[in-house]
Formats: sequence, structure tokens, C-alpha cells
Amino acid sequence: MALVTMRQLLDEAAKGGYGVGAFNVNNLEQVQAIMEAARETGSPVIIQASRGARKYANDRFLYHLMQAATEVYPEIPVALHQDHGNSPETCRSAIELGFTSVMMDGSLMEDAKTPADFAYNVRVTHHVVEMAHGRGVTVEGELGTLGGIEDDVGSGEVHLTDPDQAVEFVERTGVDALAVAIGTSHGAYKFTKEPDRELLAMSIIEEINQRLPTAHLVMHGSSSVPKELVDLLNRYGGEIRPTWGVPVREIQEGIKHGVRKVNVDTDLRLAATGAIRKAFAEDPGEFDPRYYLKPAREAMKKVVKARMEAFGQAGHAGDYEPISLEEMVRRYKEEGHLLTTD
Ligand code: G3H
Ligand code: 13P
Ligand code: ZN
Repeated sequence: MALVTMRQLLDEAAKGGYGVGAFNVNNLEQVQAIMEAARETGSPVIIQASRGARKYANDRFLYHLMQAATEVYPEIPVALHQDHGNSPETCRSAIELGFTSVMMDGSLMEDAKTPADFAYNVRVTHHVVEMAHGRGVTVEGELGTLGGIEDDVGSGEVHLTDPDQAVEFVERTGVDALAVAIGTSHGAYKFTKEPDRELLAMSIIEEINQRLPTAHLVMHGSSSVPKELVDLLNRYGGEIRPTWGVPVREIQEGIKHGVRKVNVDTDLRLAATGAIRKAFAEDPGEFDPRYYLKPAREAMKKVVKARMEAFGQAGHAGDYEPISLEEMVRRYKEEGHLLTTD
């Protein structure tokens, strides 16, 4: 069984100086594509489910799909993570379900839209840390808000992360990983031109990393929205407007400065939909879902493999043995929250 906590996975990534892709899943083909990519590249991996994914697939179906991944691919360390938990209750139910990591996104209120103040964020995140660490489960917090509004996550207002507040936030909450806002947003429409260092505010990551060298930083909204995927989709009837995502080389810069978890969802959606549109166009007489889901799965696997290689996680699957949740409980109890700021 290769189920690991995200904390261990990120600690190992920090030791090895690489980043780990956290890929969103809603269905069987996404889980298979990610795990097959992990096997072919020998990568540890984070599989994450949003609240929307849990609702779409049903908790039990989704959990067992993820669980199956750890059984079919026993050589791959996998962390199961709740993406954008909007409340302690969402995090609690994810932990009950068997997730080894949760995100308490207290940058927004429970409606996942209204920006929250710092005091609320600290309070609610600290509460989840107490609950989760008591069971050995990892916690990701978020400070600052992403731009853009997509699928009920996002306020539409951008508040970049303040490095001073980041130090205080990590100290007061005890989070294992910190998501920072540097100007990206969820979805395909992040930037209207190729982002440079300014538009992407990479200096925020560098400053936080200098102040908190042991903190595991998380980049949300990190799809690169590759032109070839958008072009393919549009060639077969899609209507994606000209747009730019986060260049892979900027993510690699982030990884040099403490970014350990890189969230990618949109690139898989683009790859799958492009492949399905192409399959539909090429043989309108076909109606077996496997005819179009197979190329969709293949296209997602190709994207995930490329990211695993670029983030540096490839080849690290065999580096370590999983630490049990019980052992994590003991460590949190005896060694505190482990992410020290000195
Ligand atoms: O947080 C954004 C992820 O891409 C998940 O999106 O809420 O549509 O499942 P979703
Ligand atoms: P993308 O929309 O850029 O793939 O971001 C996904 C994400 O941040 C999930 O939390
Ligand atoms: Zn996100």
C-alpha cells in the first residue's frame, strides 16, 4: 500500500529539491491517466479532489477510485488530498473518508467567494490543523486570493500574498504547506499575454522562501494552457479564446525557491476535451464511449508525464517508505508542527 501523507511527500521533495504535481480528479480516466504517468516516470504524486469532484462522483466512488490507485500502483507514493476545503466540516469529512491531506482555504469565507480577513483565516486554519494533526493528516492553508472566478472557487478579487503575513500565518496556524497568491487564477483564462516575472509576482515566492526557508509553498492555478492543446481543441470545433497560462519555466523557478506542490487541473481538461472532439470528428459513426475516452486518457497521461518530468518528481517514487498516520501523530505531538520559522 503506497498511501502516504502529503507532509512526508513534500518533506522528501524538499530534500530532493523538486516539486510535486497535484492533479485534480473527478473520474476513472483521470485517475488512470495520472497513475500510469506516475508509473512510467517513477514519480510520487498527489491526487486531489475538489468539493465539486466529491459531489460529481459521490464520496464513496471517488474515494475507492483513489484507493484503487494505491492498490494497482503499489510502488507509487500517493497522497490523497482535499482541494480547497471551504470549512472545517469539509476537511473533517475528507479525513473521515480516508484522505491523508486537506486544504483549509480560509482565504475565502465558507461560500468560497467572499474574501476573508486574516484573523478569520488564522482561526479557521488553526482549528483544522489541531483536528487533522491529531490524526496524522497534513494541512495546506492559503494566504491571499487567486484572481478569476471558476466553478465556485474564487472571489474575483486578487489579493497577492503579503510575505510579512505569511510568516505570522505559518507560525500561528502550524500548517504543513502554504498556498500563495502571485497573480494566477484557476481555469484557462489566466493572462491575456505571456506573463513575465512582474505579472506573475515571482518575487513574492522568493521573499517568502527567504523568510521561511523550511515552508513548503504551493502554487495554485498552475496549468500552462499549452497553445498546441488549445489549437487542437479549436481545430475540432472548440471555442477557446487566445489565452496564456503559467509557463513551465516559471514553475521551475518557483521550485528553486521552495515551491513543493504544483496544482494542475485545467491542462488535463483541455487535453481530454481536445482528444474527444478529435475522435468525434474523425468517426461520427462511433458511439462506444471507449472509442473517445481512450484517446482522452492518453492525452491526459502525456500532459501529466511532461509535468512530472519538468517538476523533477520523476524517478523519486522509490526513494522512501511510507510513514504511518500513527507515526505522524506522534511526531506532531512530540516535535510540534515541524515547520519552524527559524
Ligand atoms: O480549484 C479548482 C480546481 O480546478 C477544481 O475545480 O471546483 O471545478 O472541481 P472544480
Ligand atoms: P488550474 O486551473 O490552473 O489547473 O489550477 C488548478 C488548481 O489550482 C486546483 O486547486
Ligand atoms: Zn486551486
